This record gives sequence, structure tokens and C-alpha cells, in this order.
Amino acid sequence: MSKPESNNHIAVKAEKLTRRFGDFTAVNSIDLQVQKGEIFGFLGANGAGKTTAIRMLCGLLRPSEGEAWIEGLPVSKSAEKIKRRIGYMSQKFSLYNDLKVWENLEFYGGIYGLSKSEIESASDIMLARLQLAEYRNTMTVELPLGFKQRLALGCAIPHNPGIILLDEPTSGVDPIARRKFWDLIYELAESGTTIFVTTHYMDEAEYCSRVSIMVHGKIVALDTPRELKKQQKVTTMQDVFLKLVES
Ligand SMILES: Nc1ncnc2c1ncn2[C@@H]1O[C@H](COP(=O)(O)OP(=O)(O)OP(=O)(O)O)[C@@H](O)[C@H]1O
Ligand SMILES: [Mg+2]
Repeated sequence: MSKPESNNHIAVKAEKLTRRFGDFTAVNSIDLQVQKGEIFGFLGANGAGKTTAIRMLCGLLRPSEGEAWIEGLPVSKSAEKIKRRIGYMSQKFSLYNDLKVWENLEFYGGIYGLSKSEIESASDIMLARLQLAEYRNTMTVELPLGFKQRLALGCAIPHNPGIILLDEPTSGVDPIARRKFWDLIYELAESGTTIFVTTHYMDEAEYCSRVSIMVHGKIVALDTPRELKKQQKVTTMQDVFLKLVES
């Protein structure tokens, strides 16, 4: 596993990041460092604490203990600056069904503070990139789920953030839509964007540069898929996951 040479290479960092809800600890003192340009897979069973952790990384939920940093900025002290540096696609992504496709892009561009002309040029490029150009004037409610997920990604990144956090972006869609979505993720990563992604699909975990596996709020493994398979003496990420989560 290659180690970051300096802090400038670190896009996302967490130290002892913890979140309790009453007596229950949803995220239990997690440590991680994601290097710039990585596709980092954040895995774990239902209820493991992934969404809770991501919300703390984005500054949407206050940690009970510990700290997170985005590009070296402490999340607890730099919430506004961080919002401009990250794109977040939540698990229940929030598109407006009663708006047209381009109107959703326009709305989210406005949220991120883009001017009208910036939004116009950015949304044409984005629609082409998302393979949604011909659906520009379609009502969002009419889009198939796979298309909606691509649009939700577009709406999360009108400001070209360096870091994108995706919470189960492909859940419930067919294999072709998933492949298309991952083609986009790869394109973004190749242009230097850091991707932090949760998924329950273990074939997607294989595409990640490194993955962590969370069990009951703790990270129990973190490495490249290749190294994890070697450590667990298995040949697929599916088996790595089952071994670590079941034990
Ligand atoms: N606001 C809250 N109040 C109380 N408990 C919560 C709250 N948010 C999350 N939890 C609990 O924390 C645990 C972790 O939830 P979280 O949504 O982070 O899991 P997850 O790994 O994202 O799961 P999934 O794969 O199903 O999305 C769960 O037991 C959940 O019920
Ligand atoms: Mg979740």
C-alpha cells in the first residue's frame, strides 16, 4: 500500500471520528486518509454507519468526537469553504421530479452560486457528459432510475468540486446503468477528482483503488482490493466482505 508523501496529497481525512445517537454509537472512532485522485470504496453492511460517517465528512452532521478534514481544512471550522470543494450525492438523492432535466441542473447550479451564463454553459457540457442531452426538456419524473441517478450526479457537481462523495449512487439500477455510471466515475477520477463512494455491489468494490470495510461503526479493514483478497485468502471482494462482516 503506497503511503501519502505529504498532507497535500490527502483529500479526505478522519481521525477518531465518532457519532453517538443517545447510548448507541453509529460511528466508532474511525480513522482514514483518502489520497487525491483515488476512487475510495466505503463498504459495510446495512446500518454499519456509512451514511452517518459521510454526513460528518461533508459537515452535515456534527461528530460526537474526533475530526474530519477536507483538503486539509477541518470540517468543524470550515463548513462554508468545504461546501465549495465537495460534491455530495446523498443516498436519497433529491431531484425535483416536477422540474425538467435542465431545470434541475439550473436549480443546483444556483445553489452552488453559479451565474446564469455559467449555468447555461455548464449544463450543456454536463448534459452531454451525462448522456442526457436528448432528455434536456423531459420532466424528471419521467426518467428511468438509471438516468435520474446520472442527473443527480450532475446536480451534485455543477461547481466542479475536487472531491465527490457518493452514497450508494447505483442502488436499484440495472447492470447497464451501473456500468454507465461507473464510466462517468472513472472519467472524473482520470481528470484528478477524488471519489469517495459507498456501494453494496462487490463488483463495484473491485473497481476502487482502495476500500474500507465497516462493521458496527468500526473500520475493520482498509486496503486495495488486491491486498484485501490476499490477506483473506479469497479471490473475490464478495468473499472478503462476507468473511469480514460475518466474523
Ligand atoms: N438520526 C439518527 N438517530 C438515531 N439513530 C440513527 C440516526 N441516524 C442513523 N442512525 C442509526 O445509526 C446506524 C447507522 O446508520 P447509517 O445510516 O449510517 O448506516 P449505513 O451504513 O449507511 O446503512 P445502509 O447501508 O443501510 O445505508 C443505524 O443503526 C441507524 O439506525
Ligand atoms: Mg447509508
